[in-house]
Amino acid sequence: MKHIILDTDPGVDDALAFLLAFNSPELKVEAVTTVAGNVNHTKGHKNAKKLLEFIGATDVPVCAGAEKPLIRVMSHAEEFHGKTGLGEAELPEPKLETDHRNAVEMILEKADELGKDLTLVAIGPLTNIAAALLADPKLPEKVDKLVIMGGAFNLTPYGLGNANAVAEFNIWHDPEAAKIVFNSGLPIVAAGLDTTTHPDYRMSVDMFNEIKDKKDRRSKLVVDLCKSLVEKFNGFSLHDPQAIAYVVDPTMFKTEKYKVDLEVHGELTRGMTVVERRYYRRVKEEANTDIIVEVDAPRFLKLIMDRVTGE
Ligand code: BDR
Ligand code: CA
Repeated sequence: MKHIILDTDPGVDDALAFLLAFNSPELKVEAVTTVAGNVNHTKGHKNAKKLLEFIGATDVPVCAGAEKPLIRVMSHAEEFHGKTGLGEAELPEPKLETDHRNAVEMILEKADELGKDLTLVAIGPLTNIAAALLADPKLPEKVDKLVIMGGAFNLTPYGLGNANAVAEFNIWHDPEAAKIVFNSGLPIVAAGLDTTTHPDYRMSVDMFNEIKDKKDRRSKLVVDLCKSLVEKFNGFSLHDPQAIAYVVDPTMFKTEKYKVDLEVHGELTRGMTVVERRYYRRVKEEANTDIIVEVDAPRFLKLIMDRVTGE
């Protein structure tokens, strides 16, 4: 059983990640911590509560985190995720109370309690993780690893940007936080756009229609969450669920290890994840990120079908 903290900015694909995480017996979600990103923090935090109530995981602490990036002004991605952040899904106003500990306090407390049994999973901007690292620089030695959805590494033909030509949204949203995280010594595994937008690893229109035909409770939610994005983008990129799937079963993934650093100030390249690929500069000890480069598509998509949908 892997203990995780789920740091999230819900978010349509974050919602699918919740369904996968909470329906995976391999995982124990110790806490959900929220961060501003796809929508402002108030909406995202409320969405996390709505999702926990939908799932029935009301005993899991939900902690408030960063309301804006470390330095940048707040931006959002409501044009993709909808005004509420949950597409066309309408979930009841949540009753769940926010935990008395904030995101950083919860991360540090669980790191002390669980040590190497704890995996941090960040599927939004890295603001909370960076703040935790600033508060406790020993955090990298305490926990097992950090698994993120983030980055556009240019290791596959699909590793191009979605926030600008070269940067992925979560990293772009708070590049200073990402710079701290990538340079912290924390072992990182990254599901980036290289594989999350790969056509073989997306939810195809056929897969979406199959889910639509299922008509169970979770399938109906998935349809309401995803339908406008499926229409707009001819399918749905399973960004955040890919990061969760890695934690559930890393044997479905092939990774390559590189040194990654961040372009923070670029005029055109803010948030670019720069991969050191020059063979004569590749120092093993400096490599900080296992980047997912291949996914066992049939197994991954079956996992999504089996666990994201159903009663
Ligand atoms: C990432 O950005 C957000 O919009 C998604 O939730 C995902 O975490 C994809 O670039
Ligand atoms: Ca997200």
